[in-house]
Amino acid sequence: MMLLFTLLACGSDETTDSAPASTVDCATAPADVTWDASIHGIFLDYCTACHSANNPDNRYGAPAEVNFDTEQDVYDLADRVRVRVLQDADMPIGGGVYEEDLSLLDIYLTCRLGK
Ligand code: HEC
Repeated sequence: MMLLFTLLACGSDETTDSAPASTVDCATAPADVTWDASIHGIFLDYCTACHSANNPDNRYGAPAEVNFDTEQDVYDLADRVRVRVLQDADMPIGGGVYEEDLSLLDIYLTCRLGK
């Protein structure tokens, strides 16, 4: 009963605080998952419409300090990217990232960034 109360008390639209551990095995993951090969394109496809420093005026409410223009940007926010995209699947708003891109992103965060 206590558990049920705790679950109910935790609003369903709250975002999660901490990132789950990745299940990627870097020993067997493809080595060619890099920023230049695919990951930059994924952030351009799904994120920079709202999260770009080049786009200060029309961000659909995205926080001014949350941008994904560079590898360093992604590194700095890697834990939040993992939570919002891979775990909660509510970024981009409403989700919709292809499975294949989710898998590439997980490999990149885990094996390339060590996050
Ligand atoms: C249509 C606009 C839009 C797109 C596209 C979008 N976001 Fe967001 N993002 C927002 C808004 C609005 C917020 C602030 C509200 C919130 O946190 O839900 C936000 C907040 C965030 C935050 C900061 C909040 C936190 O939980 O730390 C992160 C990180 C983030 N987005 C990641 C991403 C990533 C990664 C992508 C691409 C896979 C993406 N977003 C795509 C609009 C967008």
